[in-house]
Amino acid sequence: MPVVDGIPYARAGRDELRVRVAALLDAGDVDGARTALLADADDWWDAAPPPDEQLARVADAATLREAMDLLGMGRVGDYFAHRWSDPTYLAGLALLQQHWPAERPVVEVACGAGHFLRELAQRGLHDLLGVDVVWAKLWLAQRFVCPGARYVCADVTALPDLGVTAPAYVLCHDALYFVRDKAAAARSMRALAGEGGTVVVGHAHVADPHGDPVPAAEYARLLQADLAYDDDELTRALLGGRSPRAAPVTSLEASEAVALVTGDPLAPAPHDLGQPVGPLRLNPLYAQGALVWPSERYAQEYGPRSDYLPVRAEPLPPDAARRRVLVDLPERW
Ligand SMILES: C[S@@+](CC[C@H](N)C(=O)[O-])C[C@H]1O[C@@H](n2cnc3c(N)ncnc32)[C@H](O)[C@@H]1O
Repeated sequence: MPVVDGIPYARAGRDELRVRVAALLDAGDVDGARTALLADADDWWDAAPPPDEQLARVADAATLREAMDLLGMGRVGDYFAHRWSDPTYLAGLALLQQHWPAERPVVEVACGAGHFLRELAQRGLHDLLGVDVVWAKLWLAQRFVCPGARYVCADVTALPDLGVTAPAYVLCHDALYFVRDKAAAARSMRALAGEGGTVVVGHAHVADPHGDPVPAAEYARLLQADLAYDDDELTRALLGGRSPRAAPVTSLEASEAVALVTGDPLAPAPHDLGQPVGPLRLNPLYAQGALVWPSERYAQEYGPRSDYLPVRAEPLPPDAARRRVLVDLPERW
């Protein structure tokens, strides 16, 4: 399997690209191989890749946002740039807080640009692996967000041997509803966690129609999960500095999104993930002190669910970090 910049390309169903990248590497053309991989997107992406000359400049980008602009990531770029304060990210932190991996090896499946991996690394965890079907996202994660993790590009429904020691902690956030073959994804994650391991799935759409959602009971059946949360309850718990309340799966069919835990639930974290690690900076959503959404689309999706972000950042509220008026951004954000 070809490896560029330390990130193996093991995505199933992409034989032509894999062969082309391997040939470029054989010919000593690492830059060409990187450009070819940066052009590859997920099956939901509807835009054509930018021209090769533009993709060739990604490796010289000084910041995460500049790289995402060159990659033509559009709405996904807005999502990654502002992930630190969106309500579903806070829900994911609440899940981690309640079910902490501690010494377990962590695999984040569909890790995107590695936001949760960065949080785990900052809290002292070292055995971190990020898997995503889009090589470019892993490249961003490694370059700008969490350089300390290992990354492998693969589809969760057809994982290669990842060399993970069981029992492991497998995390999959804001992604399972995108996967069409959820049964295969659930099998892969449970196998990866192994005997005595843990699978934590966050923000799986139920009533939210985006992607390919299924009922909460179906996620629970596929994952064989007996612990479930409403996603909004997780966000509120993190903001309130309290433990989230689990709920019977049968009560969650009207939830926009749910979270599920299967296997060893482990213990809560010895940290308060509601308090970002720092150094803290003013959330870049504030321009001249006023909250400004990066796009109409972002405003529609996250605005109504982000009432913890005040319309003005001045005066700073006393709990500014917990409410993500102050955030902890990567150095080269
Ligand atoms: C909305 S993003 C979430 C990223 C990250 N988990 C987070 O919460 O910040 C969804 C991610 O799922 C990935 N993805 C979609 N289908 C996948 C699949 N079949 N296997 C692996 N990753 C997949 C996408 O490439 C994307 O990075």
